[in-house]
Amino acid sequence: SAEMQDTDYRPNFHFTPKENWMNDPNGMFYLDGTYHLFYQYHPESSTWGTMHWGHATSKDMISWQHQPVALFPDEHGWIFSGSAVVDKNNTSGLGSDGQVPIVALFTYHDMEGEKSGRDDFQTQGMAYSLDKGKTWIKYKNNPVLKNPGIRDFRDPKVTWDAQRNQWVMALATYEKNLFYTSKDLIDWEFASDFGEGIGAHGGVWECPDFIPMKVQGTDTVKWVLIQSLNPGAYNGGSGTQYFVGDFDGKTFTPESYVNDLGEKHDYWIDFGKDNYAGVTWNNAPGGRTLFIGWMSNWEYANVVPTETWRSTSTIARELKLHLVDGVYRISSAPVMELDSYLDKSFTKASMELSKGSTIVSVDDVSLSKTELSFEIPKLEDKDYKFLLTNAIGDSLTFGYDHSKAQFYIDRSKSGKVDFNENFAKKPSVAPRISDNENLSVTVLLDKTSIELFFDKGTTVMSEIFFPKNSFLEFKSLSNHTFLITDLKASELKL
Ligand code: FRU
Repeated sequence: SAEMQDTDYRPNFHFTPKENWMNDPNGMFYLDGTYHLFYQYHPESSTWGTMHWGHATSKDMISWQHQPVALFPDEHGWIFSGSAVVDKNNTSGLGSDGQVPIVALFTYHDMEGEKSGRDDFQTQGMAYSLDKGKTWIKYKNNPVLKNPGIRDFRDPKVTWDAQRNQWVMALATYEKNLFYTSKDLIDWEFASDFGEGIGAHGGVWECPDFIPMKVQGTDTVKWVLIQSLNPGAYNGGSGTQYFVGDFDGKTFTPESYVNDLGEKHDYWIDFGKDNYAGVTWNNAPGGRTLFIGWMSNWEYANVVPTETWRSTSTIARELKLHLVDGVYRISSAPVMELDSYLDKSFTKASMELSKGSTIVSVDDVSLSKTELSFEIPKLEDKDYKFLLTNAIGDSLTFGYDHSKAQFYIDRSKSGKVDFNENFAKKPSVAPRISDNENLSVTVLLDKTSIELFFDKGTTVMSEIFFPKNSFLEFKSLSNHTFLITDLKASELKL
């Protein structure tokens, strides 16, 4: 069959703009049954450029409705990343007659200022909505936070600090984060900074998120700083690390910094190459921590082989904070809302696999709108290798390398790979973090993406790929015979 391209690559169940360029998710909030997603958007081109905030809404974070562009550039600059909060108590005073204002804080990027060599070309602007996020009014006295002369000064993420009755803003600069506090979302006071000499620093810190999270099974609340950086991710290029600690209203103090791997920082939201700039929803119902990321990497985002539109979001995920053996870890899982899309399934209580055995084929269920899960009963001292393949020999492999105690994804032969030298360079790896005897694997497969949740989501790897034909079979290529259990492959109905 003819080679897949462009529109054939449009995902079945991941968010992507109707046309043109998207990067970071921005300003997500929930109100009255609707999840809002805004995103860095270039309405005139399928490569990065004049930034706007695109907008989409959803009842369940899975099916999205496109909405008109929410924020346009103005005399202060392009609209870079930022956040939005539901100002329930009208602390901003922007609502009248009981209106609940939605307040967005974002970065103005002044291109002329940058070109003229000034350092203060990024400032923080504000816009608000009085109709639940439909239309936006720019604040009259923008910018609300001026630039003290720092070249990278951006991506404000605002959270309510209920204990101190204040808003807290995390703002990324080159090598650290600045925290500001405010009573009204308009006047911001510098509180502290965090980041020098801690964590990964191979590039620019960007797109922070700073949120309280309950430790699973306890009433303890810790503050979590989710911190993207580019480049310098675990497997190169763009990636997102995190820190867990305490916040006293001014200063963030991370837990004593345990690093299981010697020099390497291994606290990463995702170890795959394609989950960047992810942040969480404001005002999420039920106290859930709901997250979505941009499923790409600045190494090649502008040249992936889709031309009418470019870039996809990760599946929306619920994050949980666990304390295991004295170490705080975040796990991720696809939001449970995805379950109501599970349709035709193929299940096996157990299945013996030898090298080359087919586990699931498209005769059973589709392999491009699929949730696949299984368990390897005991992680013996063996390697595990799984493969997705098609009739023309494209292959995507992933598995577990026992001698290195590493998970991996190898997309070097997955189809179109030569649009950028970094795309297929080497397999991406992730350290095995938990000591669970059983290895659980959940795999989300779309036409151009794989999201792997190992060990109940304590190690996650998300990557994109562009096969020349769709994948037809999922097989074991492990060098030994073993049993997998609780196999379930479900087609998603969308
Ligand atoms: C991250 C980022 C942000 C910035 C935006 C511009 O991917 O570089 O720091 O605000 O993209 O589009």
